[in-house]
Amino acid sequence: MSARAVILDCDPGQDDAVAIFLALASPRELEVLAITTVAGNVPLARTEANARRVVEAAGADVPVHAGCHRPLLRPLETAKQVHGETGLDGSGLPPPERPLAPGHAVDAIIERVMARPAGSVTLVPTGPLTNIAMALLKEPELAGRLEGIVLMGGAIGLGNVTPAAEFNFHVDPHAAEIVFASGVPITMFPLDVTHKVLVTPTRLERIDALATPAARAVAGMLDFYRRHGRTGGAEHGPLHDPCTIAWLLAPELFSGRHCHVAIETMSPLGMGRSYVDWWQSSGRPANALVMQEADAEGFFDLLVERLARL
Ligand code: BDR
Ligand code: CA
Repeated sequence: MSARAVILDCDPGQDDAVAIFLALASPRELEVLAITTVAGNVPLARTEANARRVVEAAGADVPVHAGCHRPLLRPLETAKQVHGETGLDGSGLPPPERPLAPGHAVDAIIERVMARPAGSVTLVPTGPLTNIAMALLKEPELAGRLEGIVLMGGAIGLGNVTPAAEFNFHVDPHAAEIVFASGVPITMFPLDVTHKVLVTPTRLERIDALATPAARAVAGMLDFYRRHGRTGGAEHGPLHDPCTIAWLLAPELFSGRHCHVAIETMSPLGMGRSYVDWWQSSGRPANALVMQEADAEGFFDLLVERLARL
């Protein structure tokens, strides 16, 4: 079986960084065509540098493109209280040496997808959906060329950044609305499932015990994140973003339901809330596979096994 071609669109962020490590450690299953970055957890200058730091720490040769520096309509809200000033606090990773790849992230996404056979590239966004929405708007044929979008964002239940909304969708709700209306097959990892994948002290020790430079960086950043990332009532830091990659590698670790999902863009109180029609009460056709259950032990077994390869 050939590797699935993916583009990771992210805002690292410790949990985005772990998603990148997991993907780069899995070349038999995933061919990472590019990493594109967006403003989110921290400003764009940080997210693009952080992506390069992680690629270098993984010993990989993958282009990193910088994308949108702010959401479509709203001012940027960051999450430095969760991820620290740099976004990768605790990692101990040095500044990147390799330069950014030339070209805007939106163009990089379009060019790479359009250059491949239809239905052969999957986008994996783990930050605000600004770059993805912009790419869909700029190239009207993009939606029909994608295999799918596997994203972290939203919530069936309560939010983490407001009572109603999850961070990625709250930061750029208009972009999320465009993505969910695009017709692309979407697999959505909301808080309800990512809050079942928690960085407990025992799990952190397993990563630290690998004792490789990459594993040490992951353990360091997750130690910081474990203490600051307990948003939304989580008992330990939820490892949100790597769930997307873990599902691509081992779909049996997760289960969910096909639902219609709509995004709140009007109400100030509910801005960015995802309305997940779990009980099919709206009669609207499903536009996403919404995940709800996770095998957390299986997830960490996979993560430890893959990090050991780096
Ligand atoms: C999401 O917001 C960010 O803080 C994380 O990186 C994750 O993508 C969780 O709400
Ligand atoms: Ca993220």
